[in-house]
Amino acid sequence: MPERILTNAELEKMVDTTDEWITSRSGISARHIAAVDQTTADMGSIAAQRALEAAQLTPEKIDLIIVATCTPDKLFPSTACLIQARLACKNAAAFDLSAACSGFIYALSVADQYIRAGNAQHILVIGSEVLSRVTDWQDRGTCVLFGDGAGAVVVSATPEPGIIATRLHAMGEHADILSLDNATLTHETCKIKMQGREVFKLAVNNFSDLISDTLIANQIKLSELNWLIPHQANMRIIESLANKLQLPLEQVIITLQEQGNTSAASIPLALDAAVRDGRIKKGQLILMAAFGGGITWGSALIRW
Ligand code: UT7
Repeated sequence: MPERILTNAELEKMVDTTDEWITSRSGISARHIAAVDQTTADMGSIAAQRALEAAQLTPEKIDLIIVATCTPDKLFPSTACLIQARLACKNAAAFDLSAACSGFIYALSVADQYIRAGNAQHILVIGSEVLSRVTDWQDRGTCVLFGDGAGAVVVSATPEPGIIATRLHAMGEHADILSLDNATLTHETCKIKMQGREVFKLAVNNFSDLISDTLIANQIKLSELNWLIPHQANMRIIESLANKLQLPLEQVIITLQEQGNTSAASIPLALDAAVRDGRIKKGQLILMAAFGGGITWGSALIRW
């Protein structure tokens, strides 16, 4: 996470909003904002370096780098190539993947296919975003929601697959309700546009089916699940999901209060928090689920 923290109190001075509105409607109290010269590749490199250390791997062991982002440093070269050079992952192929807030789950699914096909041994999967640079700071409907950050994992070939299954979905007919046009990030007019209420309804209506379908397809009962890691967009979406599933909130990893919505970075950041504070333990069953622009949504069922 970048160092700078932007609080709701500061936002009250920037747009016509209140801390009460933001926390009650979204659950967000603060978010981190990148420094003016800090980019998606900068944050992604730090997250990837820490993932390599956690996996006890040297950079040359990495066969592939996938960066999920909707705020790449440049249209090309890919942010993945920039990170490859910084980390000296000289044997890795590298590309970016665009699926907005579902990007990390999409990238994880691609990595899983490479591993299962025997085409890679170790893959860096990174979610990194500088949403602050594409936020319209005059639009109170969106600027109170987003934050910056990066998270990363190494996916490795093992005899027992850690990624049990992934499911991906898209409904491009709803492309207009959440979009970022002209994705050249130096472009002053390139800002996120969102019809929040419409996105909210689609998220609430599709999230619980996604999770039930994932569990049924893999013959796993909800009671066997240790943790749910949902995309961190809105506390009310998360609560509605937990309610529908009848899953106690204590089993849901929630970081959005202090981080806001970091799009493709939100799930790996939440995973990182729960692994490092000891909540997630080896052998536990985790379901990750994301929903975002596209519209895209997807899940990953994981044995940690
Ligand atoms: O990450 C990708 C997926 N994204 C999401 O999942 C986001 C989904 N959407 C949401 O999280 C919610 O729709 C929002 C948090 C964006 C908005 O919450 P809402 O309960 O759907 O509010 P709304 O858009 O229906 O707006 C309610 C009222 C409106 O005023 P009127 O028309 O009722 O007079 C808005 O103008 O709240 C007003 N409003 C605000 N008031 C104070 C909108 N933004 C603000 C604000 N402060 N920041």
